[in-house]
Amino acid sequence: MTKKTAIITGAARGIGLATARLMSGQGWRVVLADIDSDELALVAQGWDDALAVPCDVSDPDQVAAMVDQAVAWSGGIDALVNNAGVADFRPMGETDLAIWRRIMSVNLDGVFLCSQAAIPHLARTGGAIVNIASISGLRASTLRVAYGTSKAAVIHLTRQQAAELGQQGIRANCVAPGPVDTKLALAVHSPEIRAAYHDAIPLNRYGREDEIAQAIAFLCSERASYVTGQVLAADGGFEATGVGLPALRAV
Ligand SMILES: NC(=O)c1ccc[n+]([C@@H]2O[C@H](COP(=O)([O-])OP(=O)(O)OC[C@H]3O[C@@H](n4cnc5c(N)ncnc54)[C@H](O)[C@@H]3O)[C@@H](O)[C@H]2O)c1
Repeated sequence: MTKKTAIITGAARGIGLATARLMSGQGWRVVLADIDSDELALVAQGWDDALAVPCDVSDPDQVAAMVDQAVAWSGGIDALVNNAGVADFRPMGETDLAIWRRIMSVNLDGVFLCSQAAIPHLARTGGAIVNIASISGLRASTLRVAYGTSKAAVIHLTRQQAAELGQQGIRANCVAPGPVDTKLALAVHSPEIRAAYHDAIPLNRYGREDEIAQAIAFLCSERASYVTGQVLAADGGFEATGVGLPALRAV
């Protein structure tokens, strides 16, 4: 049986790398796309059936070249995981236009551009798009005017994709992770934020990269063949708890 091919953006580390490793173990060929070409080259060393392609997802020319390279290598694309993302936590008043644009260009434009370049190929295979949003796109909070808004937009973009691409046989879904110990989270989660997350999450802990990867791989797979337009919060129960006051849970 011919192997299926997945493009995974932001695959040099964190959730993207965990997803690439999991899917590779499940028999997929994986295209690892990331802006960090050094880290990418390191992780791809000796990895059979993986192609590393340095790419800034916010640059339309680089995205087009990455997708061309992927198709030349594999012959087709069966799944696109739009995982590359950047975070920034600061008050609205300190979020200048350059910061806003940087977050939007990677987190939102990147999803739009990679999807648009991959759609003709996904239409040929009846493939799947999985976009990585965040609980910050489902629930508003302080300090995330750019990050949270970009992720809320990714959730709506997923629904737009599902609505429009279904007739081409393409499914589009979204995974909204809760906090996961990656470089991205370490950069923006202070010890106080970490403790508060533990309190607010019914499972009382951060998620692991491989737990998010399992949700992503499921939505890419045939096991999710009738699932499209959905947001799967892999978040330890965070989104479900409207009044998740630690004081109430302790009673
Ligand atoms: N870690 C968390 O707590 C958490 C929670 C919710 C959502 N997420 C989302 O999960 C995704 C993965 O995050 P992570 O925690 O693994 O972060 P990470 O920082 O460990 O990995 C992100 C990867 O994306 C790459 N990247 C950044 N900008 C890029 C660009 N312009 N083009 C291509 N690649 C680029 C980085 O080089 C890095 O390898 C992100 O979209 C993030 O917003 C993470």
